[in-house]
Amino acid sequence: MQKNNKIRKCLFPAAGYGTRFLPATKAIPKEMLPVLTKPLLQYGVEEALGAGLTTMAIVTGRGKRAIEDHFDVSYELEHQIKGTSKEHYMTGIRDVISKCTFSYTRQIEMKGLGHAILSGETLIGDEPFAVVLADDLCDNEDGESVLSQMIEVYEKYKCSVVAVEEIPLKDSNKYGVIAGNEEEDGIFRVNNMVEKPDPQDAPSNLAIIGRYILTPDIFDILGETKPGKGGEIQITDALLIQAKQGNVIAYKFKGKRFDCGSVDGFVEATNYFYKK
Ligand code: G1P
Repeated sequence: MQKNNKIRKCLFPAAGYGTRFLPATKAIPKEMLPVLTKPLLQYGVEEALGAGLTTMAIVTGRGKRAIEDHFDVSYELEHQIKGTSKEHYMTGIRDVISKCTFSYTRQIEMKGLGHAILSGETLIGDEPFAVVLADDLCDNEDGESVLSQMIEVYEKYKCSVVAVEEIPLKDSNKYGVIAGNEEEDGIFRVNNMVEKPDPQDAPSNLAIIGRYILTPDIFDILGETKPGKGGEIQITDALLIQAKQGNVIAYKFKGKRFDCGSVDGFVEATNYFYKK
């Protein structure tokens, strides 16, 4: 039995270079690129906060200081806009800053998503936690956010949970892909997962998107995980160890997800939120 079973913390791996968005990401972290007027990372933080998580643990890297400044008070700016018609633009970010605490650590070397998550251990400790990849932007117009839905699943199954969606098989080499037994409608007990398989090797068309709930034993497993696909330490490989013990659920979430790590997905998200 874990000491603390409630999910309170959300980890945001945010050390990547964002090379697909160069030159925009030369001096600006990719997580700070805005969809309309809000940076991608703020969407993720708001999703976590909406799901009841108030501790945001951010794994940054060199050149990412704008992230820390964003989630902090800017006294000069506050002073300038106080009492003006523009003050309302700050409402959302002020709200986030007042309700959350932020902690940071740096990933010193870029050794993959699994390594980024392991770097966050110091901020998480021995409790289950959520992971949000900010470039997967999610929205559920009809109700609960993807993370809220996943926390409900976690509360029932008390093991790691990954969010999945159906993809065209030709795209399997962009994702972690799972296989499992459907226990309830849209809820699978995972028995296999492969990082970025070629279509002929994909165990299904269910791809992991950037939302995870992880139990803290993942840190010890990640510590032992050898570099996998692309020479990087993969969270998918560590999760496979848990899955072999029957401890990973894949959840087909309700809502939309935009791959804002690609220019096409970013434009799609921008149009969607603009219309909204
Ligand atoms: C990472 C994971 C992959 C997952 C994806 C979701 O890949 O390694 O398993 O499907 O995020 O966005 P990345 O997109 O960082 O290459």
